[in-house]
Amino acid sequence: MNTNIIDLKTVRLSQDGSAVIILDQTCLPESEVYVSLSSVEEVWDAIYRLKVRGAPAIGIAAAYGIYVCSRQITADTYEGFYNEFLRIKNYLASSRPTAVNLVAALNRMEKVVAVHPMKSVLEVIQLLRAESEAIRAEDAAACRKIGENGLSLLRPKMGILTHCNAGHLAVSEYGTALAPVYLGEERGYSFKVFADETRPLLQGARLTAYELQKAGVDVTLICDNMVSAVMRKGWVQAVVVGCDRVAANGDTANKIGTSGVAILARYYGIPFYVLGPTSTIDPNCPDGDSIVIEERNPEEITDMWYASRMAPEGVKAYNPAFDVTPHDLITAIITEKGIVYPPFRMQDL
Ligand code: MRU
Repeated sequence: MNTNIIDLKTVRLSQDGSAVIILDQTCLPESEVYVSLSSVEEVWDAIYRLKVRGAPAIGIAAAYGIYVCSRQITADTYEGFYNEFLRIKNYLASSRPTAVNLVAALNRMEKVVAVHPMKSVLEVIQLLRAESEAIRAEDAAACRKIGENGLSLLRPKMGILTHCNAGHLAVSEYGTALAPVYLGEERGYSFKVFADETRPLLQGARLTAYELQKAGVDVTLICDNMVSAVMRKGWVQAVVVGCDRVAANGDTANKIGTSGVAILARYYGIPFYVLGPTSTIDPNCPDGDSIVIEERNPEEITDMWYASRMAPEGVKAYNPAFDVTPHDLITAIITEKGIVYPPFRMQDL
């Protein structure tokens, strides 16, 4: 466990292109385990089970995944190849519904096939590899820029609160919401970060606390219901969160609990920043009500983290994975292209 956080590759392609290699995030923080995914079922399952998670990271995993699976298509005509490609694409797209990066990356990959009907199947497959690598490289470049843009809004020694994990583990490298934190750390800003544990899957406790601590950032873990207490003490000067889908009007879907943090930030007069690449903006989605919110297995609430069951057998449980923060609670949306302030017109970016 002595590796630098940036040396841990969240998602990559094996050198021979036959597999997607992911750091299994369900094993963190106990162990750093890499798993190799070489079938469409394995890629689907890894995304569904959050072995790879975070909007940009699942887009990259899906892009690599469809390339890996395209190599296994046996059809030798372009039409046969395209039909099988579409079947794989639709299957992978069904793994998680909320993060737009998943379907956007798959659409980009499909476009490579669609615009090259005159090329051989082999040539198309080579182009698919290049496109998947481009998706990863663009995300890494975007994260760096988001870090610079985000840091321009922060001051040394600030207390910063974050929800879920929008760091290195959620992207190609570096992070979105955590990118300015890492950059500030490099430049001696000495931030004090509060990480919400993020019920029910504990991305804050298991992943954000883990990666910030590993990077030497001053991080304090709190339960989700402690946010108000920490803000009331005056310990938080800015909130930074990631995003899974930003609608044209700025309404933003992110991990369940984010909207509650935004409401508290407004009450205490603390700026609430959403950070994400422009690949997370969905210009076709007019507002938050149009965003499909993933609902997950209720057992994640009742059973998953306990030695024995913590809720009565048969109790009803509601388990939405994301919520929508209305745009009027957002101080600014920070992308690689710049900082957007209200009134948000995200489709113009
Ligand atoms: O269910 P998860 O862990 O995939 O949810 C992740 C989040 O909500 C992140 O904040 C979001 O994807 C942004 S990651 C840069």
